[in-house]
Amino acid sequence: MYACSINGLMCSAEDATLSVADHGLLYGDGVFEGLRFYQKQVFRLYQHLVRLQDSAKAINLELPISTDEIVRSIKEVIEASGLSDGYIRLLVTRGEGAMGLDPGNCVNPKAIIIVDELAMVAPKARLHGVNVIIASIRRLSVDQLDPRIKSLNYLNQILAKQEANIAGADEAILLNQSGRIAEGTADNVFVVRDNQLLTPPVSEGALDGVTRSVVMDLARGLGIHCSEALLASYDLFTADECFLTGTGAELIPVASISGRELPPERPVYSRLAGAFRNLVYNPEIESNSVLMTG
Ligand SMILES: Cc1ncc(COP(=O)(O)O)c(C=O)c1O
Repeated sequence: MYACSINGLMCSAEDATLSVADHGLLYGDGVFEGLRFYQKQVFRLYQHLVRLQDSAKAINLELPISTDEIVRSIKEVIEASGLSDGYIRLLVTRGEGAMGLDPGNCVNPKAIIIVDELAMVAPKARLHGVNVIIASIRRLSVDQLDPRIKSLNYLNQILAKQEANIAGADEAILLNQSGRIAEGTADNVFVVRDNQLLTPPVSEGALDGVTRSVVMDLARGLGIHCSEALLASYDLFTADECFLTGTGAELIPVASISGRELPPERPVYSRLAGAFRNLVYNPEIESNSVLMTG
């Protein structure tokens, strides 16, 4: 059973309530972050809080509690969960308002923190790789709804995921309006070609993923050349390796893309996945993590 808090107050899963008039529910008007903690230490908390603040700023939403209170509350909810490793969902809604989407009518925005376990894929899929498709639905462009805003409205990605479900695949990759690779439904995309790591620039319609930037830093540290590049489906079909990154996903290897099998050997992925594990379980080598114990 998950543990949670609303506006800094702990509540049990049974007692947690949200008004049906909250525009977070009625219109997807709000923003969120997904975080992970390992051995009770939140991974890259600072980056997630900055992104939350930026998302909120972009939609002109004032956080109902301070970031210090959010940090305190996250710590409290982690303790209440009894988990040592887990997932944190931090969301901020616009608050209660009249029917009609005007955010100017809304009061009492809610900062909700939920801690639970999360396994995005089965251990077998993580080992053998997931099967992905290229979705027919396109990622929204910056001038439609900037993908850097982590908003409560994920219908764009949900429709892509539905396509994956119908095709019997594990995940979908979305192209942008120009037909270039943007990102997965809740993850960023990397390919390896000739031992070089490539990922689409955020400007191509991707979230500026925290895990994405960690992986890019790890690659540089391991001497793996890493750069941003415009990628098309062709680049995925013909890659030596492909993998997905995200807080929920961590690093997940891709076995096939729209029926095209990728080589089963994944030397670059394996090195990076090993380095990632090492990093999240040894936060003393991670200057930006915030200690949640003691
Ligand atoms: C659309 C989208 N892209 C990418 C990511 C990966 O970002 P991060 O590594 O910060 O979790 C997420 C994570 O939720 C996401 O929702």
